[in-house]
Amino acid sequence: MFVMRSTVCLLVYLLVAVWTPQTKAGARTPFFDLTQYNDWPQFEDYVKGVAHDNPSFVQLKTIGRSREGRPLLGVRIGKPAPAGRRKIAVWLDGGNHAREWPAFHVAVYFIEKLVNGYLVDDKITKYVNTLDIYVFPVLNPDGFVYSRTSTRATIRQWRKNRAPENCTGTGPFSSDLCCEGVDLNRNYDIGFSHNNYPFNNPCSDEFQGPRPFSEPESRAVRDFVMSSEIYGRLYALVSMHTHGQLWILPYNYHKRTYPQDFKDLETLANRAADRVFAYRETKYRVGTAADMLGTATGGATDWIKKNTPTKYVYVLELPPDMKTWFAFQVKPHWLIPIGKETWLGIEVIFDQVIEETKNFQPTSEPSSNGTVDSRSPRFRQL
Ligand SMILES: *[C@@H]1O[C@H](CO)[C@@H](O)[C@H](O)[C@H]1NC(C)=O
Ligand SMILES: *[C@@H]1O[C@H](CO)[C@@H](O)[C@H](O)[C@H]1NC(C)=O
Ligand SMILES: [Zn+2]
Repeated sequence: MFVMRSTVCLLVYLLVAVWTPQTKAGARTPFFDLTQYNDWPQFEDYVKGVAHDNPSFVQLKTIGRSREGRPLLGVRIGKPAPAGRRKIAVWLDGGNHAREWPAFHVAVYFIEKLVNGYLVDDKITKYVNTLDIYVFPVLNPDGFVYSRTSTRATIRQWRKNRAPENCTGTGPFSSDLCCEGVDLNRNYDIGFSHNNYPFNNPCSDEFQGPRPFSEPESRAVRDFVMSSEIYGRLYALVSMHTHGQLWILPYNYHKRTYPQDFKDLETLANRAADRVFAYRETKYRVGTAADMLGTATGGATDWIKKNTPTKYVYVLELPPDMKTWFAFQVKPHWLIPIGKETWLGIEVIFDQVIEETKNFQPTSEPSSNGTVDSRSPRFRQL
């Protein structure tokens, strides 16, 4: 009898285990396979699902729509603030370059870490209780979808969004060429000029667009960082790209041009990069991309640093390093190791943000009608 009962129990247990393969111990997230590259619908379902399944601390955020109408999706992970208080916010994103698939996946890894670690891991619990953590895995869904449609290099290695063709392009021996797409990371209003070669060429991979913020994807980010929801309380932002193992500081629209608190940004970046290195010796170079590689105008993070009080603003060029040419998509078995090591650097940033802002009250609740005055104040020390 006893034997039979335990056999039945075991059977039931096995059946349940087989029927719900995605339920890991403590997992609160829908299944997302980080051992392979996923398509846009998997990202969309995941982001919506994780918010739907965890309403007490995860909220779905749609900050706008792409050219082709796809939602620019993310989540806010954080326990609601006590009445009358505003939490400090931080932002992680998978960038705006179509082919940089590992960055999108690492952003999902971060969501996994935060959501499944809440009330399980003390450090994560502290982050979720103390901060509002915004995560936007894919800020260029149209380009991403396009880059997945073919292995042909011109498609697989697509970088821009899917803006309609512009026929003022030039090539080595020709002019009036028609090319599609705008580089969303050249489209922000910082250092933008019609004379910026090659960013003024529609056939360049880095076409800046006809004017600053010509693209709905960059306007959506601009409008959200300026919105009463996060302006005045966003304290750190990390935008992930591939590749090069570079920890990029502002500013990049001009060489040897730095924000006044550059030393603080650099010190923290060095500490975070050291922490990443300790995991499996992935070595990041820290500095501005302008100084390390060359200037790039119209960058998202440059614009955010210049136009908002957000202090720690970084771009991470994830592995592999620069020696490998055109290695935007590492073999997918690297996604989890890269997620793990990068997360260790993110923890260094979050710890610093919490330490540095513990005596800060983010600017008072902005007026609900969202007037411009609600955005002028900066962080105020109590
Ligand atoms: C095409 O690109 C050029 C160069 O940036 C720009 O001046 C022009 O306005 C663009 N045309 C359209 C239709 O956007
Ligand atoms: C918005 O709120 C501010 C402050 O509460 C108030 O002074 C202003 O009149 C309001 N504006 C509108 C259009 O309601
Ligand atoms: Zn990039």
